Amino acid sequence: MATDMFNLTGRVAVVTGAASGMGRAMSLALCEAGAQVLMLDINAEGVARTAAEAVAAGGQAVGAVCDMTNCAAVDQLFERIDRDYGRIDFLGNIAGEAVRGRPEEISLADVQSTIHNLVISRFYCTQQAGRRMLKQGRGSIVSIGSLASITAMGRGHIAYSMGMGAVVQMTRELSTEWAARGVRVNAILPAQVVNPGLEKRMAEDPTLKDRFLSGIPAGRLGRPDDIRGLAVFLASDASPWITGAIIPMDGGNLACNAGATMGEHWVL
Ligand SMILES: NC(=O)c1ccc[n+]([C@@H]2O[C@H](COP(=O)([O-])OP(=O)(O)OC[C@H]3O[C@@H](n4cnc5c(N)ncnc54)[C@H](O)[C@@H]3O)[C@@H](O)[C@H]2O)c1
Repeated sequence: MATDMFNLTGRVAVVTGAASGMGRAMSLALCEAGAQVLMLDINAEGVARTAAEAVAAGGQAVGAVCDMTNCAAVDQLFERIDRDYGRIDFLGNIAGEAVRGRPEEISLADVQSTIHNLVISRFYCTQQAGRRMLKQGRGSIVSIGSLASITAMGRGHIAYSMGMGAVVQMTRELSTEWAARGVRVNAILPAQVVNPGLEKRMAEDPTLKDRFLSGIPAGRLGRPDDIRGLAVFLASDASPWITGAIIPMDGGNLACNAGATMGEHWVL
């Protein structure tokens, strides 16, 4: 059956940022597809809620607190993974906070913390996972980038864009180094996906939502659940030759020229 290749039964998946948004959606989807999922977040209550939801739906899930920016905590996390699971088949690098600020004003400390959160921490976790996957001869790693990985957003995204750009290059380098040894590394680049931070910014600037939508041919903002299919696909045997892929998840935003007319209302 073609659908069998999406079955994740027997696989161990680790997802960061699992309390909310795309991390939550990815965790639940992997669980539904049969994986045992270790869900991580700094939000203890939120991650426990995601894990409980997965278990209530019949899945195998554990929620745990881990600050992914703390390398010592990541070391402890992998000791736990070795002890409790003895393997790791999938890593979803979703957590990653950023500080926004005007390029001419933002402090070096804010740039450094953003680069640490988006690049160094994710690299460290990926390195730990990658070592184990290389020993197993199999594994899949997915990092969340952004359209800001490959285009400019303005509005104070300087540190974020620098970090997200590096996430794409990390993906390309690792996929090149590890593909022949069975480990696939891909990145998903979302456009605007509704989350509490984005809702706050749209409330503060009433023009923002329409500006976003003016670039999205699909005519709506993203939803966290939009990542479900890609997550299962990239974690599963349905994507054996997909590595180093930089996949937009953006309702057509990247494909759309700034002068394009969307939809059917145009005159020849
Ligand atoms: N939402 C969007 O429009 C969008 C677009 C492109 C990229 N992204 C990126 O995708 C990622 C997830 O976004 P989201 O919309 O799902 O966000 P979200 O705010 O809904 O969820 C992020 C989760 O990460 C957790 N987290 C934050 N710092 C952490 C840490 N140090 N350790 C562990 N967990 C931590 C938070 O507690 C939260 O549960 C972020 O890196 C974001 O920059 C988001």
